Amino acid sequence: METDFLVIGSGVAGLTYALKMAKHFPDKQVIVITKTSADETNTKYAQGGIAGVWDDENDSYDKHIDDTLIAGDGLCNEKIVEIVVKEGPERIKEIIEYGARFDKDESGEYSLGKEGGHSENRILHHKDVTGLEIERALLNELGKLPNINLIKHCFVIDIITQHHLGYLVTKSTTDITCYGVYVLNVNSNQVEKITSKITLLATGGNGQVYRTTTNPRIATGDGVAMVYRAKGRIENMEFIQFHPTALFESGVSPSFLITEAVRGDGGILRNKDGDAFMEQYDHRKDLAPRDIVARAIDNEMKRTGTEHVFLDCTHMDQKKFIHHFPNINEKCLSIGIDVSKQMIPVAPAAHYSCGGIKTDEMGRTSIKHLYACGECASTGLHGANRLASNSLLEAMVFGERCFLDSLLLIETINKENHLPTELPDWIAKGTTAPKEMILITQTRKELEQIMSDYVGIVRTDVRLRRAMRRLDLLYEETEELYRATKVSPQLCELRNLITVGYLIVKGAEFRKESRGLHYNTDHLSKSELLQNIVL
Ligand code: FAD
Ligand code: SIN
Repeated sequence: METDFLVIGSGVAGLTYALKMAKHFPDKQVIVITKTSADETNTKYAQGGIAGVWDDENDSYDKHIDDTLIAGDGLCNEKIVEIVVKEGPERIKEIIEYGARFDKDESGEYSLGKEGGHSENRILHHKDVTGLEIERALLNELGKLPNINLIKHCFVIDIITQHHLGYLVTKSTTDITCYGVYVLNVNSNQVEKITSKITLLATGGNGQVYRTTTNPRIATGDGVAMVYRAKGRIENMEFIQFHPTALFESGVSPSFLITEAVRGDGGILRNKDGDAFMEQYDHRKDLAPRDIVARAIDNEMKRTGTEHVFLDCTHMDQKKFIHHFPNINEKCLSIGIDVSKQMIPVAPAAHYSCGGIKTDEMGRTSIKHLYACGECASTGLHGANRLASNSLLEAMVFGERCFLDSLLLIETINKENHLPTELPDWIAKGTTAPKEMILITQTRKELEQIMSDYVGIVRTDVRLRRAMRRLDLLYEETEELYRATKVSPQLCELRNLITVGYLIVKGAEFRKESRGLHYNTDHLSKSELLQNIVL
């Protein structure tokens, strides 16, 4: 297959870009690839909503910028923060034009929610299923465009660069160029080649590297691993955000999220003794930024020897609760919890990757003709910790920016006619069908265990060293298996997850300080030592 524009991923990032490209170039075909069904994405599960400055009276761009910078703990790129905050509302208007419906109050104004770290109410939402509504609206719009070819159940294995033409490509090579991808058609079990002039990676997050995560099964960090293998630049992988309040259900994966908006509406965290503990940790109490709340919960769990704490909503107006959070209410009822009478058991779960494929302010990666956007990208917006509900916003703003830059790039590419005439087909010679699936499933379990036990919310130098040694072994064994076995999504995902785990540990070992989401008790500042909340 050959195309001008190739998009990997059908979440908010990939679809925002694809729609814009297809509308601008009605005579060209845009290919969108997704590894399972069209809507199985992190986007679909977003609950709380999208942050944006709507209330001109009380809110301002400066306030949203400040909140983002404070959460990011000194590592945000201020220029990017300003871009996202200021361009955000326009992008939200676009998605409303596509048909996304956000809740309004009785006066017909948008009802704006509040989440941790936000100084004002600025979160647009659709009940507690905002992502589902956004994904619906985007896919509906896509259905109107005959020049978008959405290919489902195709697993992208690697991006094609000069390496596949036999050239030596290293991290110092300055002109690494993306010519397309190798993709496993899951239905036919064949590896195919798609050449493209411009490729966008919008492959989402990597929460599946941890045992407990809010992320669906597709979130295996494939884009980051592909770019790393292609010698592109990755950054900030140590900053993994743990959401403080995932529903605690022993043995259930992924974990169901209890949106932060519940605390925004008055929900209170309590420990097993019924004490509201957040005031001991931060003056913003239950609405402190996520890193602080997650660490406080982690500490309470360790201190009291429990597997979870509780989110108390029993005092809240139940009519309003059911109106705003119907999905959460239903889920709780389904496991026997009546939120009007019982507290919800919650525990932190891996939720969001702040780092990823390094991009500039137009979404360009260090690899030519390759853009990255959405959760797989590291644009500089989040720094050391993402502010709640800034992620959907970032994906939309950068979807537009990648589109704008692509308009210039495609002209240059067409003039230069850059594509090599012969790109090699995938070589499967010498490989055999996998005989022992247990090698893959067991290694994946081991990986999740290592990452959760040693590279979680609280880290130490010894734990990180131990994790790295164990990952080395998993890497060697899995590479051996990969060389000998026909590719499958399971094997590719395992390989990608090991790479992601390695990058997280490497970043964490390199950072000799505690900052934002990266909390290492061997590297605490004086003030952190004084208020050391770690047992
Ligand atoms: P995704 O939506 O995850 O899409 C990834 C796409 O890439 C999928 O189509 C997948 O099939 C495809 N893909 C991946 N690898 C391959 C491959 N190898 N081959 C082919 N296709 C591939 N953020 C907010 O701002 N507000 C919220 O309220 C919010 N709530 C959240 C709640 C939950 C439970 C979760 C998990 C996340 C939440 N987030 C929220 C974060 C936000 O939803 C995500 O960061 C965002 O949706 C990511 O969008 P994306 O387009 O980058 O990736
Ligand atoms: C939530 O609804 O609590 C998640 C919001 C986010 O991840 O931005």
